[in-house]
Amino acid sequence: MLLAHYVIILQNEHYFQQGTRMHIRHTTAEDEPRIIRIHLEAFGQQHGPEVAGLAKDLLHDQTAHPLLSLAAEQNGELVGHVLFSRAELAEAGQPVSVRILAPLAVVPEHQHSGVGTLLISHALETLRLEGVDLVFVLGHPDYYPRSGFTPAGVRGLEAPYPIPDKDADAWMVQELRPGILGSIQGTVRCCEALDKPEHWRE
Ligand SMILES: CC(C)(COP(=O)(O)OP(=O)(O)OC[C@H]1O[C@@H](n2cnc3c(N)ncnc32)[C@H](O)[C@@H]1OP(=O)(O)O)[C@@H](O)C(=O)NCCC(=O)NCCS
Repeated sequence: MLLAHYVIILQNEHYFQQGTRMHIRHTTAEDEPRIIRIHLEAFGQQHGPEVAGLAKDLLHDQTAHPLLSLAAEQNGELVGHVLFSRAELAEAGQPVSVRILAPLAVVPEHQHSGVGTLLISHALETLRLEGVDLVFVLGHPDYYPRSGFTPAGVRGLEAPYPIPDKDADAWMVQELRPGILGSIQGTVRCCEALDKPEHWRE
């Protein structure tokens, strides 16, 4: 059970069972080179350059704001990073505040110890307090449901680019305003940096 790994959760400091301390914080402009390296290391030679390029583009994309950029830091080293960019829900019929989670990465030597889950849960709580209603992600259907995401397409919430049927479960949503899921449908419109077909292939 993943939660058993945490013995103390106090503000932004998280202590893991083995006694190591993980600090979750907002990133600054000075963090950009390390953020790029995290995505390069985590995604490897095949996907690293594209994902790192996306992270960099998002950090500089004015249409992505408000942008939430959080890092996991241990002993002064950044070991994980996640971004949430602004999006819209076209034809929703009511005002709705939307974000897209992408990308998320944890450096290989810190994977499988709860860092990714911790970054997501901290970010979702931050977004909830900011009044965000819905958060979408295109990602692994075996990973994100543990953080509360469920398939979005079956709810009539379409991605900015068509998702092939075989990957339908990878397009997921989570409500931060209770009850909003089921009351709206529409098509997500993303920021400029994400608005490219290559970012919507699993
Ligand atoms: C995917 C990733 C962000 C998860 O972060 P993490 O800190 O390693 O994950 P957590 O420790 O919170 O959770 C670990 C669990 O998630 C699952 N998991 C981890 N990576 C997964 C992946 N790529 N696909 C599906 N499930 C995955 C496993 O079940 C794992 O449990 P286990 O340790 O018992 O095997 C991280 O492994 C990573 O950066 N991977 C490379 C980049 C990547 O694929 N990012 C894609 C996000 S869609």
